[in-house]
Amino acid sequence: MAYFPLEELRKIETPYYYYDMSLLRSTLQTVAEQAGKYGFYVHYAIKANPNHKILETVRNYGLGVDCVSGGEIRAALDAGFTGGQIMFAGVGKTDAEIELALDANIKCFNVESVPELENINAIASRMNRMAHVAVRINPDVDAHTHQYITTGLKENKFGIGLDLLDEFVAKALKMKNIDLCGVHFHIGSQICDKEPFEMLCDKVTDVLAAMEKAGALISIVDVGGGLGIDYNDPDANSMADFESYFKLFADRLRLKPGQQLHFEPGRSIVGQCGSLITKVLYVKEGASKKFIIVDAGMNDLMRPALYRAHHKIDNLTSTSAVDDVYDVVGPVCESADCFAADERLPLTERGDLLAIRSAGAYGEAMASCYNCRKLPASIFSDGL
Ligand SMILES: Cc1ncc(COP(=O)(O)O)c(C=O)c1O
Repeated sequence: MAYFPLEELRKIETPYYYYDMSLLRSTLQTVAEQAGKYGFYVHYAIKANPNHKILETVRNYGLGVDCVSGGEIRAALDAGFTGGQIMFAGVGKTDAEIELALDANIKCFNVESVPELENINAIASRMNRMAHVAVRINPDVDAHTHQYITTGLKENKFGIGLDLLDEFVAKALKMKNIDLCGVHFHIGSQICDKEPFEMLCDKVTDVLAAMEKAGALISIVDVGGGLGIDYNDPDANSMADFESYFKLFADRLRLKPGQQLHFEPGRSIVGQCGSLITKVLYVKEGASKKFIIVDAGMNDLMRPALYRAHHKIDNLTSTSAVDDVYDVVGPVCESADCFAADERLPLTERGDLLAIRSAGAYGEAMASCYNCRKLPASIFSDGL
């Protein structure tokens, strides 16, 4: 359960992200233990939160990283990860990013199309390097999640359809500077049911058989990320159920000797340890609603505006036993700048401090300066 040291938090200029580092550490400890039971490899998806201190903490638990840009590769190297701990995914890798990854001697490129494969081969040949490559498969599995964060359906831009796999493999095997050694999948994010992961396991088994038939020797099997967290009750469920998650793959996937299973969780590692702390500027009576206007905006935490995502909101300072129903909105000049509609909260006043919970993943990472606002600061529980 996340802990809020109120006296210290009150003194800091709002809005800011507050990270409970002991919750992050116990989450990482659990991930390392549960994945370690089966000899699985875990690569933290940096996109969820590239904060330097978070990356250093992740590295201390022996995880690798999953990057989707040259900037993320640089952030990983700056935090002390080695090239051998880096996977590099993404549909649109630039030449400069490919060169950077080859220079760092990364573990694997997750490649999403034949033109991308040809380009990596050409650059690797020019640099006299061998590029280790996993083909990203679009398995056509419905993750039953928000349309913007489902990635494994036929109509999504990600990966290669099963019908094009043979052609991809045949071309890759002929390329001198490509070592086709892996398969990669990622079906989507915030997945809370077992079923999509079970279907994924079955697709992986089929794909491995097809790869073998096509003559590819596969050692890296990467099943991506996607494990969801409890946004409605982060105190009751401050950690995702990693034990059942890894067990599902251990029970359902049969790998050949020498094949390693890799995971790329982002949200489930950092989501619950972070909160956006914001101050109440005004409480306003609208024609039909009461608004709490806070000093954080959609530029600080974009998920509610982007996905209509719900984050639990706690009033950290109100002592009122009475509650009321409010819309909690920010100061940005957009109607989408609304953190919660019809949220039941204790009676709230100007100056109260609110915590917008479960904001450690895709929160600070997506913040912008829209409306010429400052980027939110990051505050760590062990730095107070
Ligand atoms: C390729 C890839 N791997 C891993 C992740 C991390 O997903 P999550 O944060 O849901 O675990 C993502 C997220 O979009 C992704 O695109």
